[in-house]
Amino acid sequence: MQTARELKVLRNSVAALRSDGSTIALVPTMGALHEGHLTLVRQARTAADHVVASIFVNPRQFGEGEDLDAYPRQLQRDSELLEAEGVALLWAPLPNEVYPDGYATNISVAGVSEGLCGGDRPGHFDGVATVVCKLFNQVQPDMAFFGEKDWQQLAVIRRMARDLDLTRPHVEAIHGVPIVREEDGLAMSSRNAYLSAEQRQQAAALPRAMRDAIATLAAGGEAQAALDELRRALLRGGFDSVDYAEMRDADSLVPLNQDNGNARLFAAARIGGTRLIDNMAVA
Ligand code: PAF
Repeated sequence: MQTARELKVLRNSVAALRSDGSTIALVPTMGALHEGHLTLVRQARTAADHVVASIFVNPRQFGEGEDLDAYPRQLQRDSELLEAEGVALLWAPLPNEVYPDGYATNISVAGVSEGLCGGDRPGHFDGVATVVCKLFNQVQPDMAFFGEKDWQQLAVIRRMARDLDLTRPHVEAIHGVPIVREEDGLAMSSRNAYLSAEQRQQAAALPRAMRDAIATLAAGGEAQAALDELRRALLRGGFDSVDYAEMRDADSLVPLNQDNGNARLFAAARIGGTRLIDNMAVA
C-alpha cells in the first residue's frame, strides 16, 4: 500500500492506478479505525478495482468544546489495518494540503443538515460537506462508501454531491453501508473507546430502547408516546441526557409523527462525556 501525504503525490498515484482503466472507490475516514470502517473497505473492494482510503481528522467538523484534541490519532496502526484489507493507496493529507493558509470556502447544505446532529452541533455538517467535497475533488473516485451509522451525514453528502454535480463524472455512486454492531447491539464507533467498562455496558441501552420503540410502533403504538418512552428508557439505562429521539423520513429527513412507510428512528444520548448516536428503520 502506498501512502500519500501531499496532493501532488496523491494525483500521481491515482493516475498510476487508473492508467489501465481501473476504477477507484474512496473510503473517507478520520482514522481510529474499527470493524465498521473495515467493512466499508471490504464493500468498496467488491465494487471497484482499487480502494483509496483517506484519514484526515477534519477540524472544521468539530465544534467548540468538542473532542478534536482528544480524538484518537493512530496512523501507524490504521495504516497496517488498511494494508491488510488490500487498500491500494492511503491518502493521509498534511493539514495544509486540505486547508491551506487563507482557506475561505464553506459548503452548507440546507434542509437535511438541520435538526438531529445538525441542531446539537452547529456547523458540523458544513465541515463534513466541505471536507468531503475536497476529498472527492482531490481523489476523483468513481464511487465512495460511507457508514449508515451517520445517516444524516450520508444524506448531507448525497445532497451536496447531487447539487454540486459531483456525482458525474467523478463520483458515480455514493454507497451507504449498514451499521456494524457489537454483540449487545451497540453500533461500532470510534467514540466507544472513550467509555469506561460500566458505561460500555450501559451504552447497550441505546439500541435496546430503540428496538423497543420500533416494536411499540409496529404494534400500533402512538409515535410520540414511543419516543417519550425511548427517552425515559435511556435515562433509566444509565445515560445522563438525551439530545434527541425522533422519527423522520429516511430520505428527506423531514420529521414525522406517524410512520409513512419510509420512517427511521434517530437517537443521540450522552453517557459521561461521550455522545453516542444510532438510527434504525422503523418498518
Ligand atoms: O464519518 C467520518 O468519519 C467523517 O465525518 C468523514 C466523512 C470522513 C469526513 O471527515
